[in-house]
Amino acid sequence: MELLKQLNWRYATKHMNGKKVPAQKVEAILEAIRLSASSIGIQPYTILVIEDEVLRKKINENICKQPQIVECSHLLVFAAWSNVTEQHMNEYVNDIVAQRGVTPESLAPMKDNYGKLILSRPAEQNFTWAAKQAYIALGYGLVAAAMEEVDSTPMEGFNAPALDELLQLEAKGLKSVSLLPLGYRDEANDVLVKAKKVRRAKEKLFVEVSDKNLNTFTV
Ligand SMILES: Cc1cc2nc3c(=O)[nH]c(=O)nc-3n(C[C@H](O)[C@H](O)[C@H](O)COP(=O)(O)O)c2cc1C
Repeated sequence: MELLKQLNWRYATKHMNGKKVPAQKVEAILEAIRLSASSIGIQPYTILVIEDEVLRKKINENICKQPQIVECSHLLVFAAWSNVTEQHMNEYVNDIVAQRGVTPESLAPMKDNYGKLILSRPAEQNFTWAAKQAYIALGYGLVAAAMEEVDSTPMEGFNAPALDELLQLEAKGLKSVSLLPLGYRDEANDVLVKAKKVRRAKEKLFVEVSDKNLNTFTV
């Protein structure tokens, strides 16, 4: 119930009031993002946390004209790996060894399987895959912010190549895919502050399929 209440409370905030989000709440949101599920568990992305006003102003002037960039408290940049490398696979295996207390030998078959599949793919395909994982993490961030009563705006409306250049992401093996400003709604200036949610009807969004209606179900 609490979750649904908060999901109704949240909205993609168009104007924020500049108020700072307490560090404890930011930490809770980041921890929820860290707990995000990801394909094979490798978390092929990095989230850049930008509180600095000077940098946010630069981003707002040249890369994303949306006001939340400067009106927010913290700007999260979800950047996916531009490729997945053997070093990434090794780091992941090392994390499992350290955090689950298992032997590296026990993970050899897994590493071999995933390695064959992922390392043989073109970089572009791995980036597309990594970006999908980064979007799941973005979703965790959105929901976690709502639970903390912190406003946020998921964003794709920015010049990603320009942001990558400003943050020098290419050299770090990253490409930005989405943004999440965190802050507090500006009740007086946000036209959407009281707007009713628009969502597809339950009957259209969810369709029950069984062996009996396999040939007849419609969407
Ligand atoms: C991936 C993604 C990208 C979005 N990009 C923007 C954006 O650039 N600017 C913006 O104001 N809202 C953006 N939105 C917000 C959506 O318009 C909003 O989530 C949708 O209309 C549903 O409304 P609600 O989130 O307020 O319930 C984006 C949402 C998602 C999920």
